Amino acid sequence: MATLEIRDLHVSVDTENGPKQILRGVDLTIAGGQTHAIMGPNGSGKSTLAYSIAGHPKYNVTSGTVTLDGEDVLDMAVDERARAGLFLAMQYPVEVPGVSVANFLRTAKTAIDGEAPKLRTWAGELRSAMEKLQMDPAFAQRNVNEGFSGGEKKRHEIMQLELLKPKMAILDETDSGLDIDALRVVADGVNAMLNPDLGILLITHYQRLLNYITPDVVHVLAQGRIVKSGGKDLALRLEEQGYGPILREAGLAPDVPDEALLVPQGPELGDHAGAGEPAGTRA
Ligand SMILES: Nc1ncnc2c1ncn2[C@@H]1O[C@H](COP(=O)(O)OP(=O)(O)O)[C@@H](O)[C@H]1O
Ligand SMILES: [Mg+2]
Repeated sequence: MATLEIRDLHVSVDTENGPKQILRGVDLTIAGGQTHAIMGPNGSGKSTLAYSIAGHPKYNVTSGTVTLDGEDVLDMAVDERARAGLFLAMQYPVEVPGVSVANFLRTAKTAIDGEAPKLRTWAGELRSAMEKLQMDPAFAQRNVNEGFSGGEKKRHEIMQLELLKPKMAILDETDSGLDIDALRVVADGVNAMLNPDLGILLITHYQRLLNYITPDVVHVLAQGRIVKSGGKDLALRLEEQGYGPILREAGLAPDVPDEALLVPQGPELGDHAGAGEPAGTRA
């Protein structure tokens, strides 16, 4: 079983005005089979945490460690991190004109396994992944991210999870918000993916997503540190009270009024997240 361990992580980001300290000692341990959610006010460093683990060149780890099964992740090149079993979904995925989803996935699989999947078995794997995730097979022929809706970007992300079989997945949800289709894809996809070999770190702004994905642990990140961890009840408390009271309990003085620290709810999915037509062919 895989374990991701983050110890006392300090990260600064290169800005026009020089380096800016963002993470100030993050501690986090995620074991295979667990789902952890990170919530936190805008600008608290959630995406910085994801980028740092991904090895984004702008984010400099100034101290602390990140290990996957005891191996030093920070010492690995970006592609080595992927081969070691880390999956990092990008908050703002780029378009890849002329490259279909099917080709992209096969290339990624080849890069991660060190050999190309056999063409015959690969087609079947791709098909059954799409069936499992209730996706229209035509989606595999679309160009990567070209004109993708929010939900389609998420579909592509969840397909990568299903086919690349990482040990540890870090999913950073957009600040601007997932529409209902995207939220449903993430909720259903993550739930379909849960297994003892996969650890998930879900970075989200929406408490509501956690009505459909039940995290084992919820963490609140504020001012570059995890200031509180708890169970699902912590997410419910955040929904009710916003971040203000929890930040004050942690000894932080928020510089904005509590109303600005409320947790956006996001769209309602209805009775269960699985409702709705399989989509994915919309232009
Ligand atoms: N590439 C960057 N250039 C300049 N500032 C950045 C950059 N990335 C992050 N920051 C700053 O770091 C802080 C944390 O940002 P971020 O990690 O994106 O927060 P969150 O995802 O929690 O909203 C913010 O003040 C943001 O402006
Ligand atoms: Mg962010």
